[in-house]
Formats: sequence, C-alpha cells, structure tokens
Amino acid sequence: MLCDLVMKNRSYRSFDESRTITQEELFGFVDLARRTPSARNRQPLCYRLVHTKEECDTLLPLTGWAALVNVKLPPEGHAPTAYIVICCDTTVEPNTTRVLRDIGISAQTIMLAATEVGLGGCMIGSFSPDRVSTALNIPEKYRPMLVLALGKPDEKVELIEAVDGNVTYYRKNGIHYVPKRTLEDIII
Ligand SMILES: Cc1cc2nc3c(=O)[nH]c(=O)nc-3n(C[C@H](O)[C@H](O)[C@H](O)COP(=O)(O)O)c2cc1C
Repeated sequence: MLCDLVMKNRSYRSFDESRTITQEELFGFVDLARRTPSARNRQPLCYRLVHTKEECDTLLPLTGWAALVNVKLPPEGHAPTAYIVICCDTTVEPNTTRVLRDIGISAQTIMLAATEVGLGGCMIGSFSPDRVSTALNIPEKYRPMLVLALGKPDEKVELIEAVDGNVTYYRKNGIHYVPKRTLEDIII
C-alpha cells in the first residue's frame, strides 16, 4: 500500500553495512525514476551511481548529516552502502533552478522504490557540488544537485505531531523523532 510505503519512507541515518546494494538494484531505481514526470518533458536529470566500498568511503565525508542534532551520524560502522547522485545535465537545462521540481519527483520515487525492497536512506542536500564532482570524476556538464544515501536502515524513526509549530527533529534514547505539522495547520 502506498500509505504504508510513505510512512515507512523516513530519513534514515544509520545502516546495517552487511546489506550491500548492487549496481543492478541502483539501475532498477533509476529505470523507474526516468519514467516520472518532467517539466516540458526535458528530462535533464542524469544519475551517478555509487556502490563500491571505495567510492562510498570517498563520498561519505563530503556529505552533511542531521545538522540539528549533536550526534555523529551516521555512527561509525553504520554507513550507507550506496548512493545515487542526481545531476542536472546543463547541456539540456543550463538553469539548474528549473530542475528542482523534477529532482523532488525523482528523488521521492527512488526512495519509495528502495523502501519497498527493505532499503531506505536519506536525501542529502548538504554537500559541495564541486567537491563531489571532483571526488567522483563527474564530467563538468553534469551538476550534482542532490545525493541519495541508501542502505538497510538499522535505526528507529518516529513521526510525532508538531506542537506550537515546533518542527525541530531530535533524538532521545536512540530514537529519532520527527515532528510533522498537523493537518489543521497546513490547510488554508
Ligand atoms: C531536499 C532535501 C534535502 C535534505 N538534505 C539533508 C541533508 O543534507 N542532511 C540530512 O541529514 N538530512 C537531509 N534531509 C532530510 C530531512 O532532514 C528530513 O526529510 C526531515 O528531517 C524530515 O524527516 P523525514 O524525511 O523522516 O520525514 C533532506 C531532505 C530533503 C527533502
């Protein structure tokens, strides 16, 4: 059910490293994403797949995790086992802000597909596109826009209702709590 998938598809920041992810699995996710809507059907998004231990180790320190909590995430030994770097092909769309909506659609589709097979992860916007490009030898015409970190989650994330508009997520007794604004708060 879509509802179950959406609820299960949280941002996870701790993973069971024994569950590796193959290139074929990543191909499958992108094969789904390429069939999602795209403004004017331009399809400017391209994808750099990362699944080897070596490249995962290279990418991890270039990504920023859970800036709002004072904990080192992912914890040592609980890193993502794959990444998908969503890039804008600037020869298709030079204005990278025009592709942001496409990216959201693609990213959520990939995360839901990962959730369906028992994986999960986190969308990462905190990174330097230049540093990621250099580290992964991404050709200049592809601009890294969003990193999807993937793995088998091994932490508990719980949604709670936001009180007085406070949406700051926090961790308590090993559980990551995410306040969501109530339905009454968001219907205008
Ligand atoms: C576009 C986007 C960028 C994000 N970037 C980061 C990031 O750089 N680091 C991080 O730890 N989480 C990042 N997140 C995850 C959010 O913090 C997370 O979605 C939010 O706390 C709500 O949690 P939930 O996804 O479990 O509902 C990002 C989410 C989105 C949609």
